[in-house]
Amino acid sequence: MTAQDTAQRPALRSQRLNQITNEPHTKLDALVKAHAPFETQANFARFVVAQYLFQSELVSLYNDAELTTIVPDLPARCRAEAAKADLADLETEVPAPVAGAVKNPTKAEALGWLFVSEGSKLGAAFLIKRAVGLGLSETFGARHLGEPAGGRAEGWKSFVKTLDGLELSAQEEAELDKGAIDAFNRFTVLLEQAYTTTPELA
Ligand code: HEM
Repeated sequence: MTAQDTAQRPALRSQRLNQITNEPHTKLDALVKAHAPFETQANFARFVVAQYLFQSELVSLYNDAELTTIVPDLPARCRAEAAKADLADLETEVPAPVAGAVKNPTKAEALGWLFVSEGSKLGAAFLIKRAVGLGLSETFGARHLGEPAGGRAEGWKSFVKTLDGLELSAQEEAELDKGAIDAFNRFTVLLEQAYTTTPELA
């Protein structure tokens, strides 16, 4: 490691995660927008398919007993049911699972995945405003983008505070980073899948 690397190393774990996921986030943001999800309800429905697939793959993590001892409100943070209800609102079939879902991650890897899933609620604040233009809201069609109980900023701050306060080994830090990067890669796969699958076959 060079002196420069050391100087640029963020003090907080969450800041490091922000830093290492900055590029994948920028790419994913561009990819989401390239599919023009707010042009038509049909385009938006494909985006919801991707969100549903991603969230449904994380259900076991959100309900994991060990992880819930770390983040007590973890099960309530899960958005799989909200995304499923959005699919119904949009008269879109629940998609079949896509091979390659996260399986038996270590605790730290799982936290990396959850960091990304929870962080995506921040971008959702912008996305829901656009969804309103399609006649959707946090009670119809765009539930999974809605304000979480207790507040968006508050939910994120408490998650990050908990994450930053954990004692992790060097190996676990690396696993955390891997989980976060894997999560971005997975969402990218699911997004592409959602837009290449025809609605009839979904
Ligand atoms: C599956 C993961 C994610 C997806 C699909 C996603 C998607 C997006 C999209 C499409 C936007 C642009 C919204 C707009 O300009 O209208 C956005 C913005 C944003 N996202 Fe994400 N995001 C994800 C993860 C994260 C994570 C992990 C964080 C935080 C650590 C985060 C923080 C933000 C913030 C703060 C914004 C708004 C301002 C900005 O662009 O910096 N997102 N996100």
